[in-house]
Amino acid sequence: MKKELLLTNDGSTTLHLPKWNEQYHSKHGAIQEAMHVFIKHGFQYFYNKEKPSTISVLEIGFGTGLNALLTYLTAKEISDLQVDYTGLEAYPVAIEEIETLNFAEQLAVDKTIYTKLHTSAWEKKEVIFNKFNLKKRNIHFEEFTGLGNFNLIYFDAFGPRVQPELWKEPIFEQMFAALKPNGVLVTYSAKGEVRRIMQKIGFTVERLPGPPGKREML
Ligand SMILES: C[S@@+](CC[C@H](N)C(=O)[O-])C[C@H]1O[C@@H](n2cnc3c(N)ncnc32)[C@H](O)[C@@H]1O
Repeated sequence: MKKELLLTNDGSTTLHLPKWNEQYHSKHGAIQEAMHVFIKHGFQYFYNKEKPSTISVLEIGFGTGLNALLTYLTAKEISDLQVDYTGLEAYPVAIEEIETLNFAEQLAVDKTIYTKLHTSAWEKKEVIFNKFNLKKRNIHFEEFTGLGNFNLIYFDAFGPRVQPELWKEPIFEQMFAALKPNGVLVTYSAKGEVRRIMQKIGFTVERLPGPPGKREML
């Protein structure tokens, strides 16, 4: 699908899909949204609650790799923390498109760190940085089975407006099964229907303040 570069309100860029009028991140701020939803309420919340020595993260929708980059940058400030990061992606973003994004510049980090996440092999667990392993899988979420392997899930599919099939019970059942005991799933959506599905499956659901431009998240 055709993608266009979009400048979001916090100065970071994202990719826009004209056909669906949908973005990879919030127009109000790509980095701001990812930091709020996935890092603050996901990664940091889980770390502060459990103080683990290893966190295994499953990302549903690896896309531009922004969440992986922010997770690495956050984790490296915590001594003795190992991260095993698995990213699922059915439609990998081309490296030429990745190169147009300004995340490294906005975060004031060496661009090779970001590029490394994208040039690493698929289907193979790779040590990308010290204490940060990455396994990217080029599959549809629907095909994934990973029983009880993960502490934390970043559910970052395109919204229910454009991909309603990904916000239904079978997907949340798969994700529930993929979590270890006390595991946490975070997502930017706060739709009532999504909340009810999650509760039905067995998640304890909390509505939290969303990032700028969004009242709530789950
Ligand atoms: C909201 S975007 C991802 C954002 C990503 N986390 C990032 O920071 O760039 C959703 C991602 O899910 C991927 N996707 C859509 N449908 C999928 C499916 N059925 N299986 C796997 N990936 C899918 C898209 O290609 C896209 O990269």
